[in-house]
Amino acid sequence: MFGKKKPVYCDERLRHIAFIMDGNGRWAKGRGMPRSYGHKVGAKAFKEAVKYCSTIGLGHMTVYAFSTENWRRPREEVDAILALLDEYIEEALADLAQNDVRIVFLGEKTPFPDALREKMEHLEAESANNSLILNIAMNYGGRDELLHAANIAIAEGKTTLTEADIDAHLYTKLSPPPDLIVRTANERRLSNFLLWQSAYAELYFTDVLWPDFKPRHIDAAIRDFYARKRNFGGH
Ligand code: FPP
Repeated sequence: MFGKKKPVYCDERLRHIAFIMDGNGRWAKGRGMPRSYGHKVGAKAFKEAVKYCSTIGLGHMTVYAFSTENWRRPREEVDAILALLDEYIEEALADLAQNDVRIVFLGEKTPFPDALREKMEHLEAESANNSLILNIAMNYGGRDELLHAANIAIAEGKTTLTEADIDAHLYTKLSPPPDLIVRTANERRLSNFLLWQSAYAELYFTDVLWPDFKPRHIDAAIRDFYARKRNFGGH
């Protein structure tokens, strides 16, 4: 009666969960700390979420870590996020044998410093045989992704595009569309995230700030998802 609620496992209805990890700045501000501290604790919450999702039968997880617009933030904050990414890559490389996670970066890698870009590519290659697909959106924007996909199809000689042409060239092409998109920190918008893929996604919003986001909050989102009826435009 007083025990913890049991984890909720993912079945064929829930193959892909995407997270908009929002609220790091507010979390830090509330503690009189710099925004970069919020990102640091946010990175911890991210790692815990990945670990948890790999235990509940999820096949695909996507996180929005850095948008094409986030470059406009102060240099110091951008550097702090890139340093956290670097740290995560090192840890993920060291843990590849224990963690069955395949990392895919969504977005153009050219704006990143060479050394970081090479590490990102290295981690993608080294983890390519693992099973839980973790898409990390870094320098990602949904509009940018659509233009990128359309331009590849045009370069291939297509003059009229089909949905399949777009699907084939999305950064997320290894994953089905998200069934559930979770956004923390009491914001209710997509902010240029997975614009094409979110067509029939269920949206879940919570007031919890990302650094405070724990596995029990993932369970709550999944329970909420299972209580919904999805008809994908049918009846
Ligand atoms: C949004 O919160 C969060 C980000 C822009 C960065 C997300 C980064 C992490 C969770 C840590 C790094 C993880 C990796 C994998 C590199 P915000 O800063 O917009 O918060 P606010 O709206 O309260 O200001």
